[in-house]
Amino acid sequence: MLSEKNLQYPFLMACRREPTEYTPIWLMRQAGRYMKEYRSLRRRYSFLQMCKTPDLAAQVTLLPIEAFKLDAAIIFSDILIPLEPMGIELEFIKKEGPVIHHPIRETKQANRLRMIEPEEDLPFLMEAIRIVLRELKGRVPLIGFSGAPFTLASYVIEGGHSANYLLTKSMMYRNRPFWDSLMEKISEMVIRYLNAQVRVGAQALQLFDSWVGCLSPGDYEEYVLPFSKKVIQGIDRGVPLIHFATSSSALLRKMKAAGGDVIGVDWRINLGEAWERLGYDVAIQGNLDPAILVSSPERVEKEVKRIIDEAGGRPGHIFNLGHGILPNTPVENVAALVNLVHEYSSK
Ligand code: CP3
Repeated sequence: MLSEKNLQYPFLMACRREPTEYTPIWLMRQAGRYMKEYRSLRRRYSFLQMCKTPDLAAQVTLLPIEAFKLDAAIIFSDILIPLEPMGIELEFIKKEGPVIHHPIRETKQANRLRMIEPEEDLPFLMEAIRIVLRELKGRVPLIGFSGAPFTLASYVIEGGHSANYLLTKSMMYRNRPFWDSLMEKISEMVIRYLNAQVRVGAQALQLFDSWVGCLSPGDYEEYVLPFSKKVIQGIDRGVPLIHFATSSSALLRKMKAAGGDVIGVDWRINLGEAWERLGYDVAIQGNLDPAILVSSPERVEKEVKRIIDEAGGRPGHIFNLGHGILPNTPVENVAALVNLVHEYSSK
């Protein structure tokens, strides 16, 4: 929503490539296991329970905002949550991550997936967003998010995380009607899901295509780009969208062609080179290797300065990690990172 206030948040200004007094920063997975408050809640509730209880999801969303001077909040949920109302049973298993016990591998299964009505099927998420907005009182903007069609399809087909995405790729190559109907169904869900988050008040969106970097540029263009583009074009504009992937150095220009106001990059390419490849008519987010936050303060400082220097004072850089924060990250390193980014970039 384009209220007067939304025009002045450094994070939203950077998304629009407007000059800011300092480089805004938030961290992917900023609400999570590296915080003791999160771990203590997790001893009492399962991850899914936390996602589905609006008060808990809101409380967890706000934990890093209370602890650090971050420039944006991201709603606590998971990219796999909207698959459940489509008829896909989910389980999060300790140390293993998400598991889908009945993966989808046939066209007739894909066709049977239910289309979601976000307000009715995921009322807990809508309510969590409302609570967070009330509690934030305008301190920082709230980011809503979704998985992108490819990354979601990979979970749905593989049944969980995969090392080489062989099942996903073989379905893609060998059964085009299946691939198209699954991607079509997921894309429509993602459009509805993101638009519902904007309607309830999310001020920016991130589309996580975390695992699409396993594809060649040609396969990305043929099997993924049309769906990601359709999703991004299907979003009621007015809020900026961050389009994120990892291992995406060779896909950056194609991701830009699919759309997004900001392209999220990991650490496998330097920010300066990534931005040059993308062109300066799009904003950029990311670049710090999450492992750096587990190293020494000197190393953090060196990397932060490198990234900010490579951004070259150009408007449109949002500082972030190249992927989610690691559970063993010391909280004092997060506090130091946020302060350093603000101080060094405002010089
Ligand atoms: O960024 C945030 O703080 C918002 C919350 C958020 C979570 N997951 C919470 C979570 C977001 C934006 C996600 C996105 C997500 N989920 C992605 C895309 C981003 C990325 O990391 O690539 C993916 C691929 C998933 C799927 C998923 N969820 C996996 C693979 C796992 C297990 C691995 C792990 O880190 O444990 C999850 C679980 C999950 N999602 C946790 C959290 C805080 C850990 C749950 C726990 O407490 O045990």
